[in-house]
Amino acid sequence: MAEQLSTSFLIPDPDGIDQAAEILRDGGLVAFPTETVYGLGADARNDLAVARIFAAKGRPRFNPLIVHVADTVAAQAFVTWSDTAETVARAFWPGPLTLVLPLKPASGLSPLVTAELPSLAIRVPAHPVARALLEAFGGPVAAPSANPSGRISPTAAAHVAAGLDGRIEAILDGGPCGVGLESTIVGLTDAPTLLRPGGVATEEIEAVLGASLATPSGDDITAPGQLSSHYAPGAPVRLEATDKRPGEKLLGFGPVRDADLNLSPTGDLIEAAANLFAMLHAIDDGHSPIAVSPIPETGLGRAINDRLRRAAAPR
Ligand code: TXA
Ligand code: MG
Repeated sequence: MAEQLSTSFLIPDPDGIDQAAEILRDGGLVAFPTETVYGLGADARNDLAVARIFAAKGRPRFNPLIVHVADTVAAQAFVTWSDTAETVARAFWPGPLTLVLPLKPASGLSPLVTAELPSLAIRVPAHPVARALLEAFGGPVAAPSANPSGRISPTAAAHVAAGLDGRIEAILDGGPCGVGLESTIVGLTDAPTLLRPGGVATEEIEAVLGASLATPSGDDITAPGQLSSHYAPGAPVRLEATDKRPGEKLLGFGPVRDADLNLSPTGDLIEAAANLFAMLHAIDDGHSPIAVSPIPETGLGRAINDRLRRAAAPR
């Protein structure tokens, strides 16, 4: 197995940002905050560094990574741009949206990033620490969520440390993530397609496009991360729970009684999204079954339900 590293916590002041950028230049791995979840970053042009992401996470090599860049101009160096890309990028970048576009030939990216697909997932994050790191580093950063593959995504530096301590060089601690769910992924290699619901509500993207998003057909694994069991806590999960059974812990939503934790007592989906992963981490004792209140399937509720269905899927 991989050698044991000593993982340092960096404060995201100018000095910490410079140290993190230096680690990336040297082919190391740095976890950093984004507005969605913490990412595990490496220089996207460095094969060895990208290979280390897969090793640190235990991630299957066929599951491609998102490349993070500072702005739209930087993105255009790696993907073939289009009018539709321009429309959605103007509306949502920087922010929790990832676009899948045709990969440009001679992009200079490691082929491991795209798992040799002809397309690339790319995004411009909004979090000030992510932006400062991208600027100091000055190149493309490949970054999946900073969790062991298949486990709950990290929305705080402590979650990253719990999963990856000793496997990565550093964690830039920028506090809790504001959105709390991964980016929405829209495929634009063909008709605009929702590959993963996430931090931007589908309805908002459809409003900007003036058209509905298609959904991936059948069992193509277009976003290979969409394998059914994912985001798994240690304990079993029961959805749409309208009661709390003996031995269960209840993760509530809205004005429910007996909740051990409540995603949003007032029923606010934005607040629930921000709390989802942290509360799943906190409520999971590894064995007590977790019951979750029903969540409406609108706005960010779609992405919340998507993650919860994966958490509840048989493994
Ligand atoms: O919010 C986020 O998106 C976070 C932060 C760190 O940016 N990142 C993230 O990465 O969630 P990850 O690796 O956990 O999820 C990326 C997803 C995977 O489901 C992967 O299969 C999909 O993006 N993906 C990557 N490249 C793709 C491509 N070329 N075509 C289709 N799906 C792709
Ligand atoms: Mg992930």
